[in-house]
Amino acid sequence: MKNLLVTGGAGFIGSNFVKYVLANFDYNVINLDKLTYAGNLENLSDIEKNPKYKFVKADICEEKDVNEILQKYEIDTIINFAAESHVDRSILGSKEFVVTNVLGTQVLLDAAKNLKIEKFLQVSTDEVYGSLPEDKKEIKFTESTSITPSSPYSASKASADMLCHSYFHTHNFPILITRCSNNYGPYQFPEKLIPLMIAKALGGEKLPVYGDGKNIRDWLYVEDHCSGIMTVLEKGKFGEVYNIGGNNEWYNIDIVKLILKRLGKGEEFITYVKDRPGHDRRYAIDSGKIQRELGWKPAHLFEEGIEKTIKWYIENESWWKKVMSGEYQKYFEKNYGNK
Ligand code: NAD
Ligand code: TYD
Repeated sequence: MKNLLVTGGAGFIGSNFVKYVLANFDYNVINLDKLTYAGNLENLSDIEKNPKYKFVKADICEEKDVNEILQKYEIDTIINFAAESHVDRSILGSKEFVVTNVLGTQVLLDAAKNLKIEKFLQVSTDEVYGSLPEDKKEIKFTESTSITPSSPYSASKASADMLCHSYFHTHNFPILITRCSNNYGPYQFPEKLIPLMIAKALGGEKLPVYGDGKNIRDWLYVEDHCSGIMTVLEKGKFGEVYNIGGNNEWYNIDIVKLILKRLGKGEEFITYVKDRPGHDRRYAIDSGKIQRELGWKPAHLFEEGIEKTIKWYIENESWWKKVMSGEYQKYFEKNYGNK
């Protein structure tokens, strides 16, 4: 059986992914996570005793630890989810983004190359392509769209992608890269749009919409991202990039209104706040390549996925209340205090 190292497996997508793999595939899964504010082992409590699963607390930037873990667990496949992932935090301070997203990827790549790992999949983002014009709906991101990231977060992810590509080109190292659009679903940290708005609406608080609310994001249910990653892992061609997306563009304001309506709250809860600096206007993914070449397609309709997600946050209030206390309050003060 293959020994799969998942980094960042205690975060939003990583924890959904670990559970998805254990339920649907035959891999031993080793989850390496530093447990930053975004990592939460509660996300994995239902599988923690699974004999095919092991958690190791470690930092992807620590060369010695990474080398030891790869050898100890005889890892043959790596999927790198570990990252600082929130644009607003990268605007407040970008150092951690460069350290984890760029240096951490380099440490993993070197260790993996030296130990002749069979496959390395880098989980990247559509944000590396920058922003699309709002009025030209026919234009979407393809794998050959130029890389023009506009936030410190997306710049750090783009740097990691380029480093991965260079290892393929220079060392013939077995790299696969996926670039997905915005995810939503259970266990997403309530600093990102959808869970934040659900939590605010449930708490009877104001919902802070940046700028004019007309920025567009292309939303994909997290499990569809997981199935896309597994498709690329098992069928993708080394050195290639695969976009993953659901062809599901929404104005932010319409998402916010939909959440309020579902929760029986009025639009008077919406409050327009100062825009995010450098705010990308529109993201939209063309996922034709993965659909055509690897036969992947999303399984969830947006209506179904958002209903599941809202229901999950209603039923798991203690989860999000806990992660929103403490340190989170300080971040919230810093990001929204002057908006
Ligand atoms: P997240 O912030 O919820 O989780 C990140 C995880 O990485 C956490 O568990 C954290 O503890 C861990 N981590 C951070 N620094 C680490 C380090 N130095 N060493 C080990 N572990 C560390 O992020 P997410 O939303 O689940 O995103 C996961 C990946 O998917 C990221 O690489 C992100 O760029 C990418 N991605 C996210 C989205 C999205 O919509 N959320 C879309 C496309 C791509
Ligand atoms: P976010 O979930 O942070 O994802 P990303 O910036 O990586 O796409 O934000 C999604 C969109 O929602 C983005 O256009 C910014 C906007 N937004 C708000 O309007 N208010 C908020 O409080 C947050 C967190 C985001």
